[in-house]
Amino acid sequence: MAAKLGKTELKYGLLLGPMAGFTDHAFRSVCLSCGAEYVFSEMLSAKALCYEQKGRSGNTVRTGSLARVRPDDLPIGIQLFGSDPKFLAEAARRIENGDYRGCLSEVPPTSIDLNMGCPMPKITGNGEGSALLKNPDLCAEIVSAVKSAVRIPVSAKIRIGYDNENINAVEVARKLEQAGVDFITVHGRTRSDLYRPGIRPDVIREVKSAVSVPVIANGDIWTPEDAVRLLAQTGADGIMVARGALGNSWLFEAIRCRIDGQSFDDPNPPERIRMAMRQLEIMTEDCGEALAVPEARKHLAYYTKGMKGSAQTRASLMTATGLPEIRALLDRLLQENGG
Ligand SMILES: Cc1cc2nc3c(=O)[nH]c(=O)nc-3n(C[C@H](O)[C@H](O)[C@H](O)COP(=O)(O)O)c2cc1C
Repeated sequence: MAAKLGKTELKYGLLLGPMAGFTDHAFRSVCLSCGAEYVFSEMLSAKALCYEQKGRSGNTVRTGSLARVRPDDLPIGIQLFGSDPKFLAEAARRIENGDYRGCLSEVPPTSIDLNMGCPMPKITGNGEGSALLKNPDLCAEIVSAVKSAVRIPVSAKIRIGYDNENINAVEVARKLEQAGVDFITVHGRTRSDLYRPGIRPDVIREVKSAVSVPVIANGDIWTPEDAVRLLAQTGADGIMVARGALGNSWLFEAIRCRIDGQSFDDPNPPERIRMAMRQLEIMTEDCGEALAVPEARKHLAYYTKGMKGSAQTRASLMTATGLPEIRALLDRLLQENGG
């Protein structure tokens, strides 16, 4: 067993990272079926979840549907962002109890994850996401408040610091641990690094040595070799894969095989197209054709990248309006690629 996150035991320690606009139920379930052992929702606004019951609208209905948890979606952490401990605690309580307007969850999530790493100016400008790293005491206050509000485990996802002059992941992690956090994911970049290639495994390793709660290493895992190397470099309890899984959900299976010393054959184009179709079917079942089609385009572009005839197909996918049209395009691509 690689990691125990709360009560959830992971054999390999393979987590799918939260990605706004990508990690919906369909993508999560495809990744779970390909060997991911723990998944996350995209970050949801704590305030939106709290205001919802008071009838304030805006993004709240969408937030509610993004918070939906289905039984085939487990184990899952619902990720919240915000900076006010009271709102975060209340939002976490509502998520655990299904106590928000329009809640469709059939089961509670496995855990609540707290976003302390988002670099987007519209988030950091409000003191949220990675801006929280500038105030380790507030990070701890947030964890304490959320821990008091829920029974399920509470995790945090941090970066190694706000900028290269302020690399304070060890200090933040120690405070989070004292406040009762159940596990910590460390993305090995600062906020000012954004997503530039190259991470700092050495800092993740320092965090792992400094705390006794499980530490998950994150950043730049594109291949099974990257995964095994990051585990070795950091001594982490598990790894989180985000962009590397886009259109490449079998990366989790490939990593499992690499850890077990077994060979893994990358899926051929027809298998990739069939996986894309499967994800599209789940999306359509989940939210209907009108919403699924625009959302599916970006995933399909990842799945079909590099295939014979894929540039033409991608261009057509961008303007395709209905499911039959998309199915026909994928069928044609399948034939062109020997399916
Ligand atoms: C499109 C996109 C959306 C993301 N959304 C979130 C998010 O909602 N919450 C979060 O904690 N991290 C988010 N991230 C960061 C990823 O979870 C991950 O930490 C980062 O991409 C580094 O891992 P990777 O190199 O495996 O992609 C996002 C990243 C991308 C590319």
